Amino acid sequence: MYVVAGVSGHTGSVVASTLLAQKQPVRVVVREAAKGEPWKQKGAEVAVADLKDEAALTRALAGAKGFYTLLAPPPWGKPNIAAHRKAIVDATLGAVKAARPGHVVFLSSVGAHIPAGTGPIASLRPLEQGLRDSGIPSTFLRAAAFHENWGAMIQGAVDGGTLYYGVTDTIRFPQVATTDIGRVGARLLVEGGRGVRIVELAGPAEYSVADVAATIAKISGKPVKSMTVPVPAMIASLTGMGASADLAAEYGEMAESINSGLLGWELPTQERGTVTLEQRLRELMGK
Ligand SMILES: NC(=O)c1ccc[n+]([C@@H]2O[C@H](COP(=O)([O-])OP(=O)(O)OC[C@H]3O[C@@H](n4cnc5c(N)ncnc54)[C@H](OP(=O)(O)O)[C@@H]3O)[C@@H](O)[C@H]2O)c1
Repeated sequence: MYVVAGVSGHTGSVVASTLLAQKQPVRVVVREAAKGEPWKQKGAEVAVADLKDEAALTRALAGAKGFYTLLAPPPWGKPNIAAHRKAIVDATLGAVKAARPGHVVFLSSVGAHIPAGTGPIASLRPLEQGLRDSGIPSTFLRAAAFHENWGAMIQGAVDGGTLYYGVTDTIRFPQVATTDIGRVGARLLVEGGRGVRIVELAGPAEYSVADVAATIAKISGKPVKSMTVPVPAMIASLTGMGASADLAAEYGEMAESINSGLLGWELPTQERGTVTLEQRLRELMGK
């Protein structure tokens, strides 16, 4: 039985669908029963558990050969993101140690090996470390930045003619489609695990903010240029859009870590997905 969390989200949905298409036994973890209904109809078992609820998660993991999980993002605008993450980390590690699934595939990020200075990425380290310490076979699927992150900015860029971002617009940095991440996540579950394995996943190419703007312009047929904004202005703009101060500050730090060259891979080689930025932006833009 493969247990998959985050199935209403980008990557978990692809992990579960891919496994079901291969006729693998799947149990999805949802925090509201209604979100499990479509999965039940596709043949999955459904477990209702919050990732912060150790007892419920332990029950959800009963008999699991593999478990795909993630550090679910903090709710936009709610303060104290550290407490949100600690609750998920503690419950996940407690449940994993109690239920002892055969293998855990944890969605992590490029740069999770870097101790500090990478914004939200550094917060993935305690769960990686806890899984290492647990002795349960674990794979850290360290993905590049998601193509989908541009989704919320596309309309503003098309309407206003400019894509604003805090990363210097000429720097090409690793980005990947969540469909590629989900497919690799499913494959890693089926492969199984032994000890600790790190899989770093990039997209087919690296892209700059200028590349993203040019791609949005190509798809929309409207002129879109890129503009690098100072990181403090990016932080102010995020809080203006309702982000909590600590979350906005983390995003600012992450942008700075790309600008300074701090953010990067640990391993000499990365696996590459196949979905290009243009393909994914076309899907997001419905074109
Ligand atoms: N964005 C990036 O560039 C990037 C890069 C590398 C790694 N990552 C990692 O990827 C993660 C996001 O993965 P994703 O995009 O696949 O997810 P997502 O689309 O953000 O969806 C989050 C999923 O987690 C579920 N969830 C949230 N809080 C939960 C809770 N307390 N208990 C149970 N389920 C909960 C959500 O369910 P509901 O429907 O109930 O809300 C949803 O299914 C980030 O948190 C980060 O750690 C992100």
